[in-house]
Amino acid sequence: MDAPPASGSATGIDRARLEELLAGELERFAESNPGSQQLYERGRGTLLGGVPMSWMAKWAGGFPLFLREASGARIVDVDGHAYVDFCLGDTGAMAGHAPPATVAAVAEQAARGVTTMLPSEDAIVAAEELTGRFGLRGWQFTLSATDANRFAIRLAREVTQRPKILVFDYCYHGTVDETFATLAGDRVVARPGNVGPPVDPALTTKVVQWNDADALEQALAPGDVACVLAEPALTNIGIVLPDPGFHDALRELTRRTGTLLIIDETHTFSAGPGGCTAAWGLEPDLLTIGKAIGGGVPAGAYGVTDDVAERVAARADADYEDVGGIGGTLAGNALSLAAVRATLTEVLTEEAFGRMIPLAARFAVGVADVIENAGLPWHVTELGARAEYRFSATPPRNGAESAAAGDEELERFLHLYALNRGVLMTPFHNMALMSPATSEAGVDRHTEVFTEAVRDVLG
Ligand SMILES: Cc1ncc(COP(=O)(O)O)c(C=O)c1O
Repeated sequence: MDAPPASGSATGIDRARLEELLAGELERFAESNPGSQQLYERGRGTLLGGVPMSWMAKWAGGFPLFLREASGARIVDVDGHAYVDFCLGDTGAMAGHAPPATVAAVAEQAARGVTTMLPSEDAIVAAEELTGRFGLRGWQFTLSATDANRFAIRLAREVTQRPKILVFDYCYHGTVDETFATLAGDRVVARPGNVGPPVDPALTTKVVQWNDADALEQALAPGDVACVLAEPALTNIGIVLPDPGFHDALRELTRRTGTLLIIDETHTFSAGPGGCTAAWGLEPDLLTIGKAIGGGVPAGAYGVTDDVAERVAARADADYEDVGGIGGTLAGNALSLAAVRATLTEVLTEEAFGRMIPLAARFAVGVADVIENAGLPWHVTELGARAEYRFSATPPRNGAESAAAGDEELERFLHLYALNRGVLMTPFHNMALMSPATSEAGVDRHTEVFTEAVRDVLG
């Protein structure tokens, strides 16, 4: 999930033609999805906005498709249309839908009890697996990546006794109050559309541009920042990769100023079995992750280094076990942990990533060829099993540049065009994710549809 892209910034597009094509696609969508439309209308009677979670209304067709079933990289809607799914639940289903090993573990555990407030052995196996992949020990489990980030931030503030956190402009780390901050010039302000912020985010948060080590140095210098919360690469405003050396600077500056570094691998897990942390040799003090690790079953986790674990334990007055602000009644439940264990040990394995990553490369080559042949000033970026195209000639270096390369209308048209032809992209920007069940044929279907969409737009 992320900020809405800027409207109409893609160059070389005839806007009147785009508008006309979009209207045609909307008509086609409505005609071919009567079952989904009917359910949506019925849902409006009792669901806020007609959907169980407000962002489900974001799909490009004006109403969402309703799910009949999903398996592997394939979704079937209630009208019987099948889709190649590159959205994969915005990473929640990176393991593929209903992966057999996870389904079997979940079914077995559900029959033996779901939530008891007692730990299960699966928790230990899951934590051992995470340690093997990411290098940190000292794991805790949550139900979401948002919660993992919230608790990691609390721990960072507790052990450093510092009030602020620092994030990068146009980041997204879940619905974490402190992170809905952006830059207006040099000033920190609330992200546009921020719903009911508890306080002015400038009180809690410093913001700098991604890849700007000088600004980072300045922001950390006063020593009032508990932690930097960062994805290894921005993934929620398109993909914005780190410049060579930026992570070294980030680590050196955080260490020098006694600031903890929290790396959020929720999306960048696509880089490999140990995310970017393993792939790029990062050394976070705390690491957070969620979405994919449970194979679609709600689960998140955060891990800490031995040093942070000692500092956490040393805070004698902090209440970690009851009403101190960390935890959740269902967090660490046996069902989630059975899902995490099965997903990590049997589905999102090293071998699986070995198949997923070349598929993202195939996707990117297909898109890049279309862009080049059409002479469009667009580009495509890969991050392991994830690829994304964006409407600027060169890859942006920070979130603000990437936001400026957004084009809401064009994006909507491309998404809807794909949807009407059996290809499902994430409703947020132009991201495509590969699962262990994704096939070359599925990737090639996207290339075909993208080729036709671009041809139609250019006329
Ligand atoms: C990098 C990152 N961290 C955390 C989250 C929050 O995940 P969830 O909404 O599952 O809590 C997201 C969601 O998109 C994310 O992109």
